[in-house]
Amino acid sequence: MSAPVWLITGTSNGLGLVLALRVLRAGHRVVASVRNKTKAAAAVQQIEQAGGSVIEMDMTESQASISSKVQAIGRIDYLVNNAGYSILAPCETITEKDATLQLATNFFGPLYTLQAALPAMRAQRSGTIVNVSSVAAQDPLPACSLYSASKAALEAASESLAKEVAPHNIRVLIVEPGNFRTNFVSALAQASPDPTTVPPHYDDPVGNVIRKFLTVHGKQMGDPEKGADRIFEACTGTGMAGHLTGNVSRLVLGSDAHTRMKKSSEKFVHELSLQEETAASTAFE
Ligand SMILES: NC(=O)c1ccc[n+]([C@@H]2O[C@H](COP(=O)([O-])OP(=O)(O)OC[C@H]3O[C@@H](n4cnc5c(N)ncnc54)[C@H](OP(=O)(O)O)[C@@H]3O)[C@@H](O)[C@H]2O)c1
Repeated sequence: MSAPVWLITGTSNGLGLVLALRVLRAGHRVVASVRNKTKAAAAVQQIEQAGGSVIEMDMTESQASISSKVQAIGRIDYLVNNAGYSILAPCETITEKDATLQLATNFFGPLYTLQAALPAMRAQRSGTIVNVSSVAAQDPLPACSLYSASKAALEAASESLAKEVAPHNIRVLIVEPGNFRTNFVSALAQASPDPTTVPPHYDDPVGNVIRKFLTVHGKQMGDPEKGADRIFEACTGTGMAGHLTGNVSRLVLGSDAHTRMKKSSEKFVHELSLQEETAASTAFE
């Protein structure tokens, strides 16, 4: 049997680059996408030297453009929708342009990518789609409204999709990282307004959260190498996370993410228990 083929998006740096190199070390084949090969020259060189190939794809391209690029690859065994970024700003002040860009990058681009990979996966009766979300989808902090919304949309679509494609032997895995030491915060700083421009009436909590994010750059607890290992294992059913394959719809990465998700799930269950009676009170007699 020939080596499995992975398509991994957003491989100019961070989790995507580390995962691409991890997969290549395992002897699998990788098609890695970057926005711009010239700007991502260092990553392109690393991936190509390790035996991978690189294509240019921006997640904001049209459905037709993404579709033709993905379908040109042919066989894809693992699609990892990794590319993404976050804007941090008060919900009230986010412009139409910024809101549209956030949703296009983190939701519509990944949607068009997976749609394009599905016909080949259905024909081969196998495949895994990995959608990299965030703990922010389950526990949205202040300042993260649009980022959280984009990842929550990706998660909801993933859960529905998983049920649609299960009969075709295709799996869908949502990955929920906490804070990982990548380029994420520096990209976020570029996409977000300067915290000093946040209106005073939103400084607490929005300004506080933005300032806190900016100070964690380079100090995040999450190691992308270990995160990439767990993703590889959960996809291939090998190693430490191998037992999760097929048993979880979400792969939580980082004890910070695990703690936040546990707390928000407990709150959710508590709120449900408060309203069992009122929920049931709305049926016709
Ligand atoms: N690191 C964290 O703390 C953290 C936490 C939760 C979730 N995540 C998620 O993990 C994923 C990987 O992020 P990371 O931490 O590795 O951050 P990163 O180092 O900033 O990498 C993000 C990647 O996405 C690419 N990208 C951004 N916008 C794009 C677009 N419009 N089209 C194509 N590619 C685009 C970037 O390319 P350029 O270099 O061209 O910008 C880069 O390759 C993201 O989906 C992110 O939301 C990260």
